[in-house]
Amino acid sequence: MKKILVINGPNLNFLGIREKNIYGDRDYNYLVGMIEEYAKTKEIEVECFQSNHEGAIIDKIQEAYYNDVDGIVINPGAFTHYSYAVRDALASIAAIPKIEVHISNVHTREEFRHTSVTEPACTAQIIGKGFDGYLMAIDMILSE
Ligand code: DQA
Repeated sequence: MKKILVINGPNLNFLGIREKNIYGDRDYNYLVGMIEEYAKTKEIEVECFQSNHEGAIIDKIQEAYYNDVDGIVINPGAFTHYSYAVRDALASIAAIPKIEVHISNVHTREEFRHTSVTEPACTAQIIGKGFDGYLMAIDMILSE
């Protein structure tokens, strides 16, 4: 059975609370439920992990290497725009497909969100598709 790890970075546990006009009113648990339901229909194993801490995210990426995951879906939150450490961790696991997801369309928002330092270390990026972006990312990994 294929194994996919879904990583959500800082403030994504605050979905449904934070800037609802941008991220919608569905909460993090709803997102996890949606991903888990989708995984069932695809007959794959999925683990959803969220952390507000850069180091914890890096530890999780490194763990994925040892656990032989088939792919990573990652929304690094604001770390996207400045964390060379998360980027390096993603680049370290070159053989594993990694899809970067952003719920919002970062390109139509503030200037600082237009740059992703993590994207060059990923296989592809999906932006502005809401929660569905995570499911699209899973499909991308499964079609590899
Ligand atoms: C985000 C966009 C980032 O700019 C922001 O810092 C987030 C969420 C998104 O999913 O649209 O926390 O990654």
